[in-house]
Amino acid sequence: MRPGAMKSLCLLGATGSIGQSTLKLVDQHPDRFLIRALSAHTQVDALIDLCRRYRPLQACIADPVLFTALRDGLRAEGLATTPLAGAEGLQDMAADPGSDTVIAAIVGAAGVASTFSAARAGKRILLANKESIVLAGQLLMKTVADYGAELFPVDSEHNAIFQCLSAHGGRAGVRRLILTASGGPFLGKTRTDLAAITPEQACRHPKWSMGRKISVDSATLMNKGLEVIEAHHLFGMPADAIEVVVHPQSIVHSMVDYCDGSVLAQLGEPDMRTALAYGLSYPDRINSGVKALDFGQLGHLEFQSPDTDTFPCLGLAYAAISRGGNAPAVLNAANEVAVTAFLEGRLPFLAIADIVAQSLDAVPWEPAVDLSVLMASDAEARRYANHRIH
Ligand SMILES: NC(=O)c1ccc[n+]([C@@H]2O[C@H](COP(=O)([O-])OP(=O)(O)OC[C@H]3O[C@@H](n4cnc5c(N)ncnc54)[C@H](OP(=O)(O)O)[C@@H]3O)[C@@H](O)[C@H]2O)c1
Repeated sequence: MRPGAMKSLCLLGATGSIGQSTLKLVDQHPDRFLIRALSAHTQVDALIDLCRRYRPLQACIADPVLFTALRDGLRAEGLATTPLAGAEGLQDMAADPGSDTVIAAIVGAAGVASTFSAARAGKRILLANKESIVLAGQLLMKTVADYGAELFPVDSEHNAIFQCLSAHGGRAGVRRLILTASGGPFLGKTRTDLAAITPEQACRHPKWSMGRKISVDSATLMNKGLEVIEAHHLFGMPADAIEVVVHPQSIVHSMVDYCDGSVLAQLGEPDMRTALAYGLSYPDRINSGVKALDFGQLGHLEFQSPDTDTFPCLGLAYAAISRGGNAPAVLNAANEVAVTAFLEGRLPFLAIADIVAQSLDAVPWEPAVDLSVLMASDAEARRYANHRIH
């Protein structure tokens, strides 16, 4: 892609937190970015509103029951946008030649098929949907390479590492990747403190404004576990060379430690527009609207080791990497089921990790030979986890 050329975007998960941050950047740079396709899951009115504002060629509502509402709503607005629905609609949209860049910002394993579809179509992919790479990391990296696609991590930690590695020109001499973790809303709490946590408390993140699922993942430290798996695949590093350090201020987004003792870090305000702007404009840099760091105001930056006894999900993610095969897919699926149950008031906060651990033990191990095996393991883990919860 020629630097500085107009980019046409397919935004999957347009109604979510990452979707909205992306649209802010589009609004700021109408000369650089054009919205060609948008998707939502159930928020059909919000999707039609976005179509009115951005006039995409295509819009997809992932819940197929809502297709008629989307089609009729677009018609009533006099819009020429083609309505699509369901998983197939998302995959078609991700592969459509009308866009060159796909922002994969659907939450959960529901985003896997469209991410693969974009990869097979050779797109530039801005990957927010970390569940795709957790569930099928090796296969996704291979698909990206085989079809000449480009993968830009949008997770702020991986984006930070990507920036450090790009600045240095590659992975030579890298000793460790150091992922920073805010510690979430319950940093410093004991298991007794966490016994009666409500969804509202878990979703009240001290530093980042995010969707509910990732907010709960941050509170359990599963988010950092998913990110360790993501970093393992994205950067080809073994799990024992990926370290997590808690940094409550969320200013240092991650670091790369080199064998000569140098550590490179990327810093910035905790705002996802920085990582999105980097991926959207690479290799250029554009104004993201994120305010400059004020070092005089920052005071001190703290770092500490994670408390893996109180937050066992991080250790479960490392265990899933060493088991390999379908284990990360099982971990991810069981976590999605447990987090949904917690958000719906059907499962205590501390039981999320128990459900994940039990599912990892119960679902038979399989090698990750292809996506259908991993999706079958995902389904099996969901069945098992739901059975344990009910
Ligand atoms: N938010 C952040 O700061 C952040 C940072 C790093 C990584 N991420 C990752 O980015 C992804 C999105 O996170 P988010 O915080 O933006 O989530 P979110 O606010 O919950 O938004 C999720 C988006 O996905 C759509 N969606 C939900 N379920 C779907 C399904 N089954 N099929 C198709 N679409 C579906 C939603 O549509 P409706 O609105 O219609 O439900 C919405 O557009 C996650 O993988 C997360 O881990 C997020």
